[in-house]
Amino acid sequence: MENLKYGKIVEFVHLLISQSYGGRNDLNFVDATCGNGFDTLFLCKEAGPSGQVTAFDLQQQAVERTNTLLSTNLNFKNYNIIKDSHEFINKYVSEKVNAALFNLGYLPFSDKKITTNPSTTIKAIENLLPLLDTDGRIYITTYISHDSGTEIKEITNFLNNLNKSDYNVINLRIINKENNPPELFIVEKN
Ligand SMILES: C[S@@+](CC[C@H](N)C(=O)[O-])C[C@H]1O[C@@H](n2cnc3c(N)ncnc32)[C@H](O)[C@@H]1O
Repeated sequence: MENLKYGKIVEFVHLLISQSYGGRNDLNFVDATCGNGFDTLFLCKEAGPSGQVTAFDLQQQAVERTNTLLSTNLNFKNYNIIKDSHEFINKYVSEKVNAALFNLGYLPFSDKKITTNPSTTIKAIENLLPLLDTDGRIYITTYISHDSGTEIKEITNFLNNLNKSDYNVINLRIINKENNPPELFIVEKN
């Protein structure tokens, strides 16, 4: 990755996924918030033609932007973009999941009032946990600005209470920046 900065949390997540799953041809990934499609495109490339990526977004324009980005950048189709809330993941995904990504908040360059919200995000995480494969992980990039930190607080409470022997929960924060940089949570199946 050129000019990689660990301080850019989204890039750091991509690095972790490449290192953890790269080179395999049996991957099943989920992008719980596809937005403009950048994370979905990354996951599709990592999964390769024989892998599978299922991506969700509530907004029609996000689904369209993602479909356009993928169809112009990939010469294979290993994805399914779904216009629905991620809490309904069980309607669409039944195979074991290697990695799932949440990039919370609002869609950049769009209506900032449409944001993820703690109860549906937590419901989606709850529904994903039983789907995780033995090497399964959920990467959750969280922001303070869209709701003054409510979502981070509720996610922290929820993840704090996950069974210690079943899951490792990792929290990564940047401690020397102003303007509320994003914070990363990783749930890893033990
Ligand atoms: C920060 S953006 C995602 C950025 C995206 N990963 C990318 O690479 O461009 C957050 C997205 O979450 C979507 N969203 C909000 N609530 C949702 C829900 N309940 N289910 C699925 N998507 C949701 C928003 O519509 C928005 O597009």
